[in-house]
Amino acid sequence: MQISISEHSSVVFFTGAGLSAESGVPTYRGAGGIWAQYRYEDYACQRAFDRDPQRVLHFHELRRASVLACAPHAGHAALAAMQAAHPRVQVVTQNIDGMLQRAGVRVDAELHGSMWRMRCTQHGIRDDFSGGAYASRKCEHCAAWLRPDITWFEDSIDEAVFARAGKLISECSLFVAVGTSAVVYPAAAFVPLAKRSGAQLVEINPETTEASSLFDRHIALPASQALTTLFV
Ligand code: APR
Repeated sequence: MQISISEHSSVVFFTGAGLSAESGVPTYRGAGGIWAQYRYEDYACQRAFDRDPQRVLHFHELRRASVLACAPHAGHAALAAMQAAHPRVQVVTQNIDGMLQRAGVRVDAELHGSMWRMRCTQHGIRDDFSGGAYASRKCEHCAAWLRPDITWFEDSIDEAVFARAGKLISECSLFVAVGTSAVVYPAAAFVPLAKRSGAQLVEINPETTEASSLFDRHIALPASQALTTLFV
């Protein structure tokens, strides 16, 4: 049965790495997942960066290069079209790859930052779309190492972004999780929040997840197929 977007006062699509899987970007967990190949303790936490910034930056440059070789798919385009037709379609994402933005989707809360930004502890955040390799690995003001503006393991989430996402989710009447294992905070908290707030909950994921029992519907389809056929 199709879901009519216009019947909802506010809709949140909550996306994870599985949304980009069909573009060729590997997910974090499951077969071929990044954390099955790499230890996060070596590549994705502040401690690893403090120990060996060059190694961590090199890892992230390889990820940027591999994402650049991928392109958004029909599911991304369907999301952009839904937003164009219905202004109250919001996107809250855990994706850092920029694929949604490349497809023309307006992202309302980017929970885990972006691999296309760099951050200096002293001098703030700057865009870096220079390609696979970073434009600069050091801050032009203080020469400190720049780190990717993403949420690593053991980092806390930007409070303002977290609050904005929480507000959107607690106010929506339809909550659609797409391609997330929903085990990592805040995903693990946002699904129950949507439930408590009385939204209709739909999960798009070829696999079941630890959160599946909370959803009203589980759509066991890849994101591209579900996003292009389920919503009218
Ligand atoms: N369509 C929809 N879902 C898919 C597809 C697809 N084509 N392919 C895979 N999936 C699902 C998988 O079944 C899995 O449940 O996408 C999910 C991806 O889960 P994760 O790899 O855990 O990604 P995510 O939930 O975004 O991870 C959350 O964990 O490591 C951190 O910071 C990282 O943002 C990430 C966070």
